[in-house]
Amino acid sequence: MTQEATARAHPNIAFIKYWGNQDEQLRIPVNSSLSMNLEGLYTETMVNWDHRLTQDSLIINSVEQSGDALKRVQTHLSALRNHIDGIEGHAKVISYNNFPMGVGIASSASSFAALTLAAVSASGQQLSESTLSSLARLGSGSASRSIPTGFVEWHKGVSHETSYAESIATPDFWDLVDVIAVVSNTHKKVGSTEGHQSANTSDLQLARIANAEKRLQDCKEALLHKDFHSFATVVEEDSNLMHSIMMTSRPPLFYWQPTSIELMHLIPEWRHEGLDVCYTLDAGPNVHCICNRIHAEEVSRRVRNISGVLDVKSAGAGRGAYLL
Ligand code: DP6
Repeated sequence: MTQEATARAHPNIAFIKYWGNQDEQLRIPVNSSLSMNLEGLYTETMVNWDHRLTQDSLIINSVEQSGDALKRVQTHLSALRNHIDGIEGHAKVISYNNFPMGVGIASSASSFAALTLAAVSASGQQLSESTLSSLARLGSGSASRSIPTGFVEWHKGVSHETSYAESIATPDFWDLVDVIAVVSNTHKKVGSTEGHQSANTSDLQLARIANAEKRLQDCKEALLHKDFHSFATVVEEDSNLMHSIMMTSRPPLFYWQPTSIELMHLIPEWRHEGLDVCYTLDAGPNVHCICNRIHAEEVSRRVRNISGVLDVKSAGAGRGAYLL
């Protein structure tokens, strides 16, 4: 017997970042985080469980995968087999991404959210959103936040069951746009998983964690009150704090490029001129310019005029993972 399902999930951009784990294997983070799903960018994944297969296989954008990408998906499928009753055999996984992978737009978030939802549904199980979020987290921490809709909080929790994400507002709640300045198209050298493992080697990590919950509350309050100024202050501070950890870890990680820094100087100036825009950067050099939709076109125009910017992508708030 074969069982098949296809799911789609969006990546997300974190306003309050996840950096470092309490439990590396279960991906239970040291702090809670807050994000927005990104509409328009997506991963679509088909999972077919087949009792006749002797191993899992993976095709991404029509290319058969081997090595690390396949291994990571196989590990996740094994975790799902352990957590869910009734899965027989192995899976054929066919995935498609409509945006570049490994360049600072979190493709692992949409990938593992879509994979988890498709794999669970194909098994015939119906699980709660929080259970799906916890399961997606095992594949990639940020994937837990791509399961619920719109603006999402991931509660760090203390165990597999208590570490999950939930929606705090629907996508239409606040018309924010992520104008992504693509500064580099090359695959990053050190990925997030390795980065999380070295976060504790920074002398600054404890200080960052100490006030992370306070920043999350401030960010959530600013978001729920649509107070852009307060929102911008805490989002930029949280991104700068995470990058301070990266730069002071052993060995240090420097994700910023000169153009990233140029934008980090310009964006607060643009805000002082009256544009509702702030910056945040993930584990890569691309600059996510979070802005009010009424200013998105002007922000995009200004970003395009900067010589080091290779491409600009825009995404509003998106829904959670869903079945096709
Ligand atoms: C910098 O979720 O990609 O984007 O759990 O190892 O897959 P793994 O890491 P990942 O880490 C994301 C880190 C970040 C910040 C964030 O999205 O919160």
